[in-house]
Amino acid sequence: MSMAPATAQSPYLVGPFAPVRDEITVDALAVLGALPHDLHGMFVRNGANPRFAPKGRYHWFDGDGMVHGVHFQGGRASYRNRYVKTPGFLAEQEAGEALWSGIMERPDLSRRGGPFKDTGNTDLVFHAGRFMALWWLGGACHQLSLPALESLGVVDFGSPLKKGLAAHPKVDPVTGELMFFDYAQRPPYLTYGVISAEGALVRQVPIALPGARLQHDIAITARFTILMDLPLMWDAALLAQGKTRVRFDTALPARFGIIARHGDAGDLRWFEAKCCYMYHTINAWEEGDEVVLLGCRIENPMPDRVSARVIPRLDILALEPYLYEWRFNMVTGAVKERQLDDTMTEFPRMNQEYLGRPSRYSYNPRVAPSSELLYDGVVAYDTLTGRQASYTYGPGRYGGEVVFAPRDGARDENDGYLVTFVNDAEKGQGECVVLDARDVAAGPVARLCIPQQVPAGYHAWWVPSREFEAQP
Ligand SMILES: [Fe+2]
Repeated sequence: MSMAPATAQSPYLVGPFAPVRDEITVDALAVLGALPHDLHGMFVRNGANPRFAPKGRYHWFDGDGMVHGVHFQGGRASYRNRYVKTPGFLAEQEAGEALWSGIMERPDLSRRGGPFKDTGNTDLVFHAGRFMALWWLGGACHQLSLPALESLGVVDFGSPLKKGLAAHPKVDPVTGELMFFDYAQRPPYLTYGVISAEGALVRQVPIALPGARLQHDIAITARFTILMDLPLMWDAALLAQGKTRVRFDTALPARFGIIARHGDAGDLRWFEAKCCYMYHTINAWEEGDEVVLLGCRIENPMPDRVSARVIPRLDILALEPYLYEWRFNMVTGAVKERQLDDTMTEFPRMNQEYLGRPSRYSYNPRVAPSSELLYDGVVAYDTLTGRQASYTYGPGRYGGEVVFAPRDGARDENDGYLVTFVNDAEKGQGECVVLDARDVAAGPVARLCIPQQVPAGYHAWWVPSREFEAQP
């Protein structure tokens, strides 16, 4: 499979972001160090990888979804990368060229199915025996097979979702339910829903917001879901003229809406905190009268020097995200908040088995001193003691989201490995790096060599072997 020459105006088509041309399979990866014998499953990561030369200006968020995966099995590790073959991808493949322009161009709001191509390029989730690729703007759930990563089509949840769902649903590790949200430029601006452990849509409720917001994530506890109304918004007047301009209103508070998992919109309770934006939460749980939320808080995602003519671009946003804690008192309504560290980190992950329950560890990629959003290392936080350990990938090497992969027979929260892709653009090579979650500073226990670049991407998932071997 080859790609037409890309236009070079975008920093997201070169260097660590440069798309790869080929879908490859490598059966036994060369290993530096020793592959753990107590690690079985598949590490998968989504990202943008345009198949054709962009139509108009290109933004990193526009590219076709491509999933890179490393399968750990029987003391060997294999790699493959495959496009997420969405209906939009297949239409462009048929045409032999890009049919959609991206978010840097004026949107065609009259286009059926929305102005932008649903690329499924953002997030991954394994739920009810199905592995799915999801899109940041809210779209279909594109099913892929494991370990082959072949596209199987769009998932039907037994009741047609109004529009699909956004990246960052949350799977409760105890009940198996999946909680999701979706957002839109027109009312209802936000919807919240639950899909059963068996994979059927059981509820979807509209949530009243003062206007259209750019939502990115939610959090769950054992009984509640936390929705967000953060003042990053579409400019309503311009939206009415068909223009998508984004602004951040520092005069407004951050609002966190806590709703019983199976509650109705009327049950939702809003808590106000200091103005901020947040791309990604880490975890939330209940503690006495309080609901605790951890995430990577950004004071202002659109500093003044950013041109108001463009929608937020991570390359010029100079994101400054910090590990942060909010406590919402469900009895008194009080909110307490505090920053937990002064290192800039984002794309945080934790042991998913503890999602919604008290957790202690968070594994956060560290923001590199670069004009683009790159990560030069990982910080492993112990939020109970305040201790942290970090590992730096080395000059010219950038990593992505780091997943926690439990060791076979794991006994506690950090009993396992951290897995991520690290890319060396200059050498045109990728690596899958495996660290011991209990001793991150010691450096990798294994580095698996991938013979082509693994471009910087978005979200990752760990699928234990026992789960995907049970795929229907
Ligand atoms: Fe995200």
